[in-house]
Amino acid sequence: MSRERIPIGAAHAGFELKEKLKGVLAELGYDVEDVGTHSAASVDYPDYAHPVAREVETGKAERGVLLCGTGLGMAYAANRHPHVRAAVAWNSEVASLSRLHNNANILVLPARCITAEEGVDILKTWLDTPFEGGRHERRVEKIEREEEQ
Ligand code: RB5
Repeated sequence: MSRERIPIGAAHAGFELKEKLKGVLAELGYDVEDVGTHSAASVDYPDYAHPVAREVETGKAERGVLLCGTGLGMAYAANRHPHVRAAVAWNSEVASLSRLHNNANILVLPARCITAEEGVDILKTWLDTPFEGGRHERRVEKIEREEEQ
């Protein structure tokens, strides 16, 4: 079976945690594609959100990971892409529910609001939790059908 490719991107505030999570993903057997940033120098978060979201939008990757200070800017940018459901998760319970109920396909981590250890736990939980389907299938479908409401 081919390894799942996970694109990952961060703004400066998430750079350090991204470096750690890249190692965790590789250890878990994922094929990591780092779209940057590659240092702690100040950058603009949309420059990293869009490349990762584009991969998920086009189906080149099933899931992706983004990090910034609060997670919010990355989520705003990523969620503009069709078929992208980017979830800011600040603990493992939110991460788990974002997969179970929302079939989130991008995990956004608020690097300034969590410890590195929490970040690792959140990532692992998110990766290992499947979509529950059932009634949630209909609700997720409705996200993209706002014009019918
Ligand atoms: C960068 O200072 C900060 O604005 C960014 O990391 C993120 O929190 C934006 O939403």
